[in-house]
Amino acid sequence: MSYLVLKDLQKSYTKGGSLVVNKMNLSINKGEFIVFLGPSGCGKTTTIRMISGLEEVSGGDILIEDKSILNKKPKDRGVSMIFQSYAIWPHMTVFENIAYPLKLQKLPKNEIADRVKAAAEAADITALLDRHPAQMSGGQRQRVAVARAIVVKPKIFLMDEPLSNLDAKLRVTMRTELKNIHNKENATSIFVTHDQSEAMSLADRIIVMNKGVIEQIGTPMEVYHDSETRFVASFIGTPPTNFFEVNIEEINNELFAVSCSFKYKIKSDLKEALKPYLNKAVDMGIRPEFIDIFKEDNQEGEFLCDTNINFVEPQGTHSILIVSIGGQEVKIMTTKYMDIRTGTKLSLHVRDGKAMFFDKGTTHRIR
Ligand SMILES: Nc1ncnc2c1ncn2[C@@H]1O[C@H](COP(=O)(O)OP(=O)(O)O)[C@@H](O)[C@H]1O
Ligand SMILES: [Mg+2]
Repeated sequence: MSYLVLKDLQKSYTKGGSLVVNKMNLSINKGEFIVFLGPSGCGKTTTIRMISGLEEVSGGDILIEDKSILNKKPKDRGVSMIFQSYAIWPHMTVFENIAYPLKLQKLPKNEIADRVKAAAEAADITALLDRHPAQMSGGQRQRVAVARAIVVKPKIFLMDEPLSNLDAKLRVTMRTELKNIHNKENATSIFVTHDQSEAMSLADRIIVMNKGVIEQIGTPMEVYHDSETRFVASFIGTPPTNFFEVNIEEINNELFAVSCSFKYKIKSDLKEALKPYLNKAVDMGIRPEFIDIFKEDNQEGEFLCDTNINFVEPQGTHSILIVSIGGQEVKIMTTKYMDIRTGTKLSLHVRDGKAMFFDKGTTHRIR
């Protein structure tokens, strides 16, 4: 049974105005770690604020365990929210901050003390219980916010870019810890981020959002290797997917993707799907790591074009090569580190089955 369900969820901030969340449908299972991923302004915060009850919905329904929660007050919904800004009280000690939601519930003192202790342990801040937030680092304050969210034993954790205010290194350690806490507490979590690498490393399933609409729902591997739309292919992966505008043409009974600078032969598995696009323009996408710079014996691939290297960006374990194809900058990621120089001539091949094609109108993957 689905634990949390969003049904045709809609939001407009002004009556009759544009929908910033547009007919969102989603089912989340108990224990899942869900990540809402998308660029700034795509409706992530609005969606989790509607789930928490901080924002009214304009249409649709939200159900937890098959029951609508729309007429429940935020505190009665069984959800806990962790904000980017931490939102902890400066005049209270860490203990008082974590205890605050339990005091509102008027629980007995000894139960409050026990639960605060357990939450502080889970968030690894037992030693800080007597301190005030002003005497703590950003990472420690974030842990307080986490402990305060845990202490109420919510059905669902909602986290809105909780790591954005931390420096890059701490962000990576804290995200592992958040995942550990999620596992230990047997929690169901929704984590919001605009950072695709954060989403990839945390999520059981990623909900890729764009302009108030879900573009794709899938595991990290699915959204990466099986991107459903041009937006998903462009938003997920670093460096991002290279796109080319091509025409689908038939030459000597073979199908080709033709641009001003290459004629790429389309292999049999996509021929049928691309036939309706004959003599039409489509978008072709190739991820940087699926362009091979030499054809090695053990690699099957189709020739794309010849070019020269404009720049090399060594990354230690591998290199990023920047070339130009038809005046367009294209990035290539080598599979291993290579001592290769600017100006080197390359013969580019696309790894078998790795060229993606997208309908220009719907932006959906053609297959
Ligand atoms: N309180 C508000 N009043 C009016 N418009 C808002 C309000 N909050 C957000 N918006 C608009 O709704 C859209 C989605 O915002 P938001 O949910 O904050 O996106 P995200 O969290 O993905 O960055 C944006 O266009 C934003 O400007
Ligand atoms: Mg936001």
